[in-house]
Amino acid sequence: MKIAQLVVSTRTVSTYLLGLLLVAYLSGCGPEPPPEVIPPGGSQGDTTIIDVTELPTLIIPEDNPLTVAGVDLGRHLFYDKMLSGDQTQACATCHNQKLAFTDNNNAVSEGITGAKGDRNAMTIFNLMWSENLFWDSRAGSLRELATMPIENPIEMNAKVEDVLVRLNNSVMYQDKFKKAFGIDTIHKDHLSKALEQFLLSITSDNSKFDQFNRGEVQLTESELRGFDVLKIKGCFNCHSSSLLHDNASHNTALDKTPKDKGLQGFTDNYADRHKFKTPSLRNVMVSAPYMHDGRFETIDEVIRFYEDVIPNLNYEANKNASDSMRIAPRNQITEREMTDAKAFLHTLTDNTYLTNPKFSDPF
Ligand code: HEC
Ligand code: HEC
Repeated sequence: MKIAQLVVSTRTVSTYLLGLLLVAYLSGCGPEPPPEVIPPGGSQGDTTIIDVTELPTLIIPEDNPLTVAGVDLGRHLFYDKMLSGDQTQACATCHNQKLAFTDNNNAVSEGITGAKGDRNAMTIFNLMWSENLFWDSRAGSLRELATMPIENPIEMNAKVEDVLVRLNNSVMYQDKFKKAFGIDTIHKDHLSKALEQFLLSITSDNSKFDQFNRGEVQLTESELRGFDVLKIKGCFNCHSSSLLHDNASHNTALDKTPKDKGLQGFTDNYADRHKFKTPSLRNVMVSAPYMHDGRFETIDEVIRFYEDVIPNLNYEANKNASDSMRIAPRNQITEREMTDAKAFLHTLTDNTYLTNPKFSDPF
């Protein structure tokens, strides 16, 4: 119990929700036109589709309640190669459930034309509580994000209009969209909403660490010591709350001359240079390689990297910083600390989520 409190206290759920409400309120005042209204489908919104025990309160868009038919449709779309230009690639090609929906140990992903991107495919779980999406936060919402990979020339390289023609010509999809949204013609907004529903339904909260926090299992001595190692090193400052991320972006000083501008590329603000979204530490032991460009193949390399840096400062500042300023004492992490840290990180692997048939290939 003590551990859960320590982790959660870095950012309380209530401040988090208050922040979200404020964002919702402010964005409600903007000049944007109201979203296209879709007639409600046969089934009512059903949040029991999601089973969450310890995570923050559910946040479901009012205009897109999760329905059994909608989530099922989104799951089919996620696994369907029909969504790519030459119909050879599905979302799931790069997002493999067994690896927390990351791309089969590839540092960067290959699109249908063989072109490679420069970013590492991200994990997919608990996105309902993510305020920033993509490594550089450029997607405003899951709904907006959902069709971006379809149109991305180095990913699925298709035109959404062409995909809509295919879907409208498919008897199976005509039926599924009608069940989900009560419609006869499929528009982009329906496609986005169906994918959004599936993405929202993917949660992860049954790791050994969650079971420990619920008082169901004990952690070993080594796992408990590992928790302390990460705490002392300051890891939970950013990989915080029950989500094990802080819904923010930071510069972890990976490079002297960063190639990827990160958040700055989106905001055009120099202060955001080389900042990237903090990834969750949940399921981190199955999601190698690591960082926005997949540069580290093993968790050992990531932990060793952190021995030397103060995230948030640029490379030069880091090199010149005094030891007392660093996130962790300069002294090398011992073999035993490394073993313990990894033992703790293993407790964050959630096999229920990794093997949940609700998230698997329906075809
Ligand atoms: C060619 C490989 C590839 C395909 C296909 C692909 N993705 Fe991704 N996905 C990525 C990469 C790489 C990133 C990180 C991109 C970035 O930050 O610029 C990503 C990021 C994401 C994220 C962001 C998660 C977060 O925490 O911010 C979501 C959600 C996502 N993809 C969903 C999808 C969906 C839905 C589809 C299908 C419509 C899809 N992806 C198709 C490679 C792929
Ligand atoms: C100042 C905030 C901050 C602190 C402190 C911090 N991290 Fe991170 N962490 C990040 C950010 C931001 C990234 C993504 C960086 C990137 O991709 O360029 C990241 C990435 C990672 C990754 C890669 C995850 C993935 O999916 O690619 C791991 C593992 C990790 N951190 C573990 C740790 C550990 C262990 C510590 C403590 C020694 C720690 N972090 C301290 C912000 C932080």
